[in-house]
Amino acid sequence: MRAEQRQALDNILVQMRAGRMKRRTFLENALALGLTSSVAQSLLAACGGGSNSSGGNGAAINVVWQGEHDLTGIYQQLVNTFNQTNKDGIHVTFINGPTDTGQLHSVFLDMLRSQSNAIDIISMDIIWPAEFALNQWTVPLDAKWPVSERSQYLQGPIQGCTFGGKLWAAPLRTDAGLLYYRTDLISQPPQTWSELRRIAGQLQAKGAIKYGYVWQGAQYEGLVCDFLEVLYGYGGTVLDPGNPRKVMINSPEAQEALTTMVGWINTISPDITVTFKEDDSRSLWQQGEAAFMRNWPIAYSLSNRPQTSKIVGKMGVHRTLFDGKNTIGHAVIGGWQLGINAFSLPHKVDAAWKFIHYMLGQEVQKALARDASIAATLKSVYTDHEVLAKNPLFKVLGEVLQTALPRPVTPNYADLSTAIQLRVHQALTKQSKPAEALAVLQSDLQTIVTS
Ligand code: GLC
Repeated sequence: MRAEQRQALDNILVQMRAGRMKRRTFLENALALGLTSSVAQSLLAACGGGSNSSGGNGAAINVVWQGEHDLTGIYQQLVNTFNQTNKDGIHVTFINGPTDTGQLHSVFLDMLRSQSNAIDIISMDIIWPAEFALNQWTVPLDAKWPVSERSQYLQGPIQGCTFGGKLWAAPLRTDAGLLYYRTDLISQPPQTWSELRRIAGQLQAKGAIKYGYVWQGAQYEGLVCDFLEVLYGYGGTVLDPGNPRKVMINSPEAQEALTTMVGWINTISPDITVTFKEDDSRSLWQQGEAAFMRNWPIAYSLSNRPQTSKIVGKMGVHRTLFDGKNTIGHAVIGGWQLGINAFSLPHKVDAAWKFIHYMLGQEVQKALARDASIAATLKSVYTDHEVLAKNPLFKVLGEVLQTALPRPVTPNYADLSTAIQLRVHQALTKQSKPAEALAVLQSDLQTIVTS
């Protein structure tokens, strides 16, 4: 939502609440602003505009949340419940985000650099808090969220929201890469990347499956996650763990990792993998065309929907693989936090926190896990019988999270990521050899981390 749109929305809400606008005019205006008709109707109800004429008795505080991409529909449902049940006259308008986290990052940066408050609640990818904190773009939540409550949540995501000793967002959900496999084709999932390649190739050779392995190879943030999982699996690293100004990407481990990925293209993975984001790989997977898929936990519930999936009940999940001299794989940590725009008006900040607190609550956290296989941040969800019965992946996930590793944590992560995306993609599309790509990447990254 742009600043002018938000201004126009707030104007029609004020007029509606004051009884100066007809219901129909309100709806027409809201639709013209790009809101869906259900969002417009729910705003109308919050203004007390239920009758056919004008509204006027509502005292709603309208808060806008721009979320990360949600295909499950659960965010809108949870927002609807909040709007219907909260006693504080708060109305949250949810806007779904683009599929690419980088695009969402640009939307927020444009807004925040111009000190706009078009959006009050910001869904923040786990790679952003350091940057947002450095710029003081969100409201610190330390005084709002009691320490005693925080201890009930996974500490990794809370750490991820903390910068300079302050909490800049609250962790709504975490994420970790998983290896999905077809239980009707594979009895024992592989441990190493080499085994995966062998099993996938054999299944293809005997005509049991069209593609061996689908994953995310487009030039965007998802590729960084996929690459780092293979890199970490070989024991490699981007930055020296003891010295974040020292880049270690031009290593034998990184060579093995990148060479392995390049070797998948056009053998066990389709050549169009280099254009795939999460939903593209899931789409082939759901059609029953792939033996293995790399994806996040949310893909579990989406691929288990009988209306759209041909593989319901034929899906297992396994932890990320390893290879070379290494003996353990590491998933990359993802996840989304809710931050409050530092330029929002004080009463909106309070209303936004009330909504965020509701999203952190037991009921919502459990619903996220149970109904959408989203990796909640409230610890108790991982041992909840109902969640485990509905989504057995939570048994694996608890363990996977123990050894998951972050992407490099630095305020200039965005630049770092752009360079990794570019050089890894050049290797995947055979514009450069893995060794060349890594040598250039080493110097790209060294310039970024020392600047
Ligand atoms: C998921 C993760 C996020 C990551 C993105 C990459 O949404 O939660 O952390 O950046 O995927 O596509």
